[in-house]
Amino acid sequence: MKFTWIEAAALTAASVVSADELAYSPPFYPSPWANGKGEWADAYKRAVDIVSQMTLAEKVNLTTGTGWELEKCVGQTGGVPRLGIPGMCGQDSPLGVRDSDYNSAFPAGINVAASWNKDLAYLRGKAMGQEFSDKGADIQLGPVAGPLGRSPDGGRNWEGFAPDPALTGVLFAETIKGIQDAGVVATAKHFIGYEQEHFRQAPEAQGYGYNITESGSANIDDKTMHELYLWPFADAVRAGVGAVMCSYNQINNSYGCQNSYALNKLLKSELEFQGFVMSDWEAHHSGVGAALAGLDMSMPGDVTYDSGTSYWGANLTISVLNGTVPQWRVDDMAVRIMAAYYKVGRDRLWTPPNFSSWTRDEYGYKYYYVSEGPYEKVNQFVNVQRNHSELIRRIGADSTVLLKNENVLPLTGKERLVALIGEDAGSNAYGANGCSDRGCNNGTLAMGWGSGTSNYPYLITPEQAIQNEVIKNKGNVFAVTDSWAIDQIEALAKQASVSLVFVNADSGEGYIDVDGNMGDRNNITLWGNGDNVVKAAANNCNNTIVIIHSVGPVLVTEWYDHPNVTGILWAGLPGQESGNSLADVLYGRVNPGAKSPFTWGKTRESYRNYLITEANNGDGAPQEDFTEGIFIDYRGFDKRNETPIFEFGYGLSYTTFNYSNLQVQTLNASAYTPATGKTEAAPTLGEAGNASDYLYPDGLERITDFIYPWLNTTDLQAASGDASYGLNASEYIPEGGTDGSAQPILAAGGGPGGNPRLYDELIRVSATIKNTGKIAGDEVPQLYVSLGGPDDAKIVLRKFDRITIQPSQEVEWSTTLTRRDLANWDVAAQDWTITSYPKTVYVGSSSRKLPLRAALPTVQ
Ligand SMILES: *[C@@H]1O[C@H](CO)[C@@H](O)[C@H](O)[C@H]1NC(C)=O
Ligand SMILES: *[C@@H]1O[C@H](CO)[C@@H](O)[C@H](O)[C@H]1NC(C)=O
Ligand SMILES: *[C@@H]1O[C@H](CO)[C@@H](O)[C@H](O)[C@H]1NC(C)=O
Ligand SMILES: *[C@@H]1O[C@H](CO)[C@@H](O)[C@H](O)[C@H]1NC(C)=O
Ligand SMILES: *[C@@H]1O[C@H](CO)[C@@H](O)[C@H](O)[C@H]1NC(C)=O
Ligand SMILES: *[C@@H]1O[C@H](CO)[C@@H](O)[C@H](O)[C@H]1NC(C)=O
Ligand SMILES: *[C@@H]1O[C@H](CO)[C@@H](O)[C@H](O)[C@H]1NC(C)=O
Ligand SMILES: *[C@@H]1O[C@H](CO)[C@@H](O)[C@H](O)[C@H]1NC(C)=O
Ligand SMILES: *[C@@H]1O[C@H](CO)[C@@H](O)[C@H](O)[C@H]1NC(C)=O
Ligand SMILES: *[C@@H]1O[C@H](CO)[C@@H](O)[C@H](O)[C@H]1NC(C)=O
Ligand SMILES: *[C@@H]1O[C@H](CO)[C@@H](O)[C@H](O)[C@H]1NC(C)=O
Repeated sequence: MKFTWIEAAALTAASVVSADELAYSPPFYPSPWANGKGEWADAYKRAVDIVSQMTLAEKVNLTTGTGWELEKCVGQTGGVPRLGIPGMCGQDSPLGVRDSDYNSAFPAGINVAASWNKDLAYLRGKAMGQEFSDKGADIQLGPVAGPLGRSPDGGRNWEGFAPDPALTGVLFAETIKGIQDAGVVATAKHFIGYEQEHFRQAPEAQGYGYNITESGSANIDDKTMHELYLWPFADAVRAGVGAVMCSYNQINNSYGCQNSYALNKLLKSELEFQGFVMSDWEAHHSGVGAALAGLDMSMPGDVTYDSGTSYWGANLTISVLNGTVPQWRVDDMAVRIMAAYYKVGRDRLWTPPNFSSWTRDEYGYKYYYVSEGPYEKVNQFVNVQRNHSELIRRIGADSTVLLKNENVLPLTGKERLVALIGEDAGSNAYGANGCSDRGCNNGTLAMGWGSGTSNYPYLITPEQAIQNEVIKNKGNVFAVTDSWAIDQIEALAKQASVSLVFVNADSGEGYIDVDGNMGDRNNITLWGNGDNVVKAAANNCNNTIVIIHSVGPVLVTEWYDHPNVTGILWAGLPGQESGNSLADVLYGRVNPGAKSPFTWGKTRESYRNYLITEANNGDGAPQEDFTEGIFIDYRGFDKRNETPIFEFGYGLSYTTFNYSNLQVQTLNASAYTPATGKTEAAPTLGEAGNASDYLYPDGLERITDFIYPWLNTTDLQAASGDASYGLNASEYIPEGGTDGSAQPILAAGGGPGGNPRLYDELIRVSATIKNTGKIAGDEVPQLYVSLGGPDDAKIVLRKFDRITIQPSQEVEWSTTLTRRDLANWDVAAQDWTITSYPKTVYVGSSSRKLPLRAALPTVQ
């Protein structure tokens, strides 16, 4: 999230699009106000009570961060000391507490996806939430469903789950429930269309040579938005998520944090989101505009890092006093923030942050960036790890996908000589945390780079764990961890009973360049001579097992079918227990049951090329046209009749399973009814007062660059210090933007996650799964649906479960399909509808191994 501002280099533009051809985002106003329906009722009521007692400046304080690196957390709002409400501490990341110590480093989201395990998603969320809470963080900046994974080389895909909305949606929701059950507000991010690192922020792109004036625009049609990218966010809202983070990119040439169609219409009206929208760091681009378009919290609060100025803070106070932003809108911001705080029980658990994101020193200035305030203890080194290492080890093992096994796994432990080959087996010579935000690829890879990271408490390497195992069994073990030492690799492989070859591919966030990769991967091949390392081993050892640590798919085409490559495992980004998790699978203590959460194509071209890596609109916003629609990952491969090496949902076990006896039963559900009626009018809580009420208090010692809600003077224009202050309001207040009267409820709206009727269960499907092998194992039955229309994907995943089955045991797996599962988004009706095209259900063990199928009965 932090960028370095470097002098821009000359632009080499491709084709230039004229402005009137650019994708356009229609206005949607006013910004919906929270209503406290359903499980929000109590929290909403308490929020309204407390906000009603607040002055305008106090409400504004809650909405605005106090400035970059001023206080301890990566983002912290002002508080309301008079009412005992602390500032809110927001802290990265989606896989553990970032920029801290004595915390756990959990497996990345992509591994949770590979586990296909709802319980583990929940438990991981809860364990992370406990660590945030114990460190004094109120808001965890995660989990991620945007990026969803449109393109295999998208830099931050691994922070999220999988390029499938149903798999992502379920695990996203379980993670959120876990985090919030631990008393911490979860943040569903990034909303929306944030599918690439290149051009996500114009100033950052200037740093790597593109003189663009605006950030890239994700141009997404309405159907693709609903059926793909918005889907998991609907699940998040249904799960009661407290915060949503709007994204850096534009959507249809309107910035994510001031896009009224995305925030007001899709998120707050249609999905009826009751929590607050927080900006990504410096993704906030206007004061009044963003407020009316639905933003509720500005992070980290300043216009640019440490400018000492803010679009909000004093400016938000002023814009209410000068009548531009209606008071009810600021009331609603504060209510949404306080409701989320109460909903998760933060008021019962709150402690001040006891770590500093900016230093590991014990003592420092209270206001770090400006070295002001008392010199005090800033790090208490509180160990918050509990026994989470056990869960981390289990998720690591349960997310390791067995892709190939020529009867060589599990290892017996009796192997005489075990060769460990490749840099990815060993440790980082700089130390596990030796590169800031994991911004290098040294040693074994267990998380990507960027803000989506945490510091490791330790990192068990494969070398360490496997060496322990071999020595315990009185074998010999040697490691060549220099991936360029081909002679030594060949010599070792020749003697080995088994060669375990470790390879990887990394990616991360756009503010760090690793080996010339600006976040997004430049290619999807292995890093660090990986293909040559595998081949050097395989040409010399007839029992070569390859272990891949990667952020997504990599090309294995050169060697996957080499006769001496007897095994392939994908271990993803397993976190701190990496080596132990892997050893559990290699030595058979854990029978692998994970399934690939993405497609493994034969070539880069088999995925098509969606990333825009050259400016294609002159100096203007690069245009990312999502013309492939819903056809990403397996949907695209199916449509193009492209055969992958390993398909989405594929994974082997040490046992085998058989599928039979598909049953389909129509359930009694009432008919679909579009939501109707109107909301209440916007409530206004308390009085705004006058400018003179909001002058800086006498005697306040102002911290340099700190963002306050107060004014220097009662002259509002002077207090704003804004050169363009006071433009004729009609020129920039959108029509309806200040209208607080009752508003129509959208047909597809009316409940959390959309129309409640969408979640009615229409059909029950069951199948029998038998373990036909000799040992217990986990299977993930997967249910896919063909929606049958000419524009539909061949099949789409809808349901899955991970179940443990004993040898010879038969299990009846039963699941239900909801109306949403069978519907398409009807652009004209602006509602979901079940088309009359004949629909088919498939059940099996992967997206291409679907032995059971049946026609679905007609339902509505
Ligand atoms: C970048 O673009 C701006 C605005 O179009 C222009 O003023 C500036 O000279 C350009 N800089 C470079 C290095 O091309
Ligand atoms: C973007 O434009 C497309 C095409 O007009 C439209 O279908 C879609 O709803 C728009 N989305 C947003 C967020 O503006
Ligand atoms: C705003 O928050 C800051 C920091 O927490 C605090 O010092 C200040 O008193 C708050 N202002 C109001 C009006 O409560
Ligand atoms: C820090 O963490 C400990 C243990 O969770 C907690 O008791 C304490 O209140 C927190 N804050 C401070 C300032 O110690
Ligand atoms: C108000 O916002 C403008 C940008 O819109 C900024 O230039 C100005 O510095 C802000 N004022 C304060 C007091 O932060
Ligand atoms: C009201 O205040 C805001 C925030 O300072 C400013 O951007 C806007 O131009 C002002 N509008 C009027 C009509 O004075
Ligand atoms: C570690 O990573 C840095 C940054 O990518 C690189 O320059 C260095 O060569 C690496 N060192 C080792 C020992 O791998
Ligand atoms: C792909 O990128 C990685 C990382 O920068 C690099 O090590 C590798 O050599 C590249 N592969 C090819 C085929 O260029
Ligand atoms: C497989 O390994 C053996 C050594 O065990 C070697 O002799 C043979 O050439 C290898 N096969 C291939 C196809 O490289
Ligand atoms: C490798 O070759 C050795 C010696 O010929 C043989 O005993 C062993 O079974 C082979 N291993 C595999 C996995 O084929
Ligand atoms: C308000 O006063 C402070 C302290 O004198 C000054 O630094 C700041 O620039 C002033 N802001 C505006 C918008 O005039």
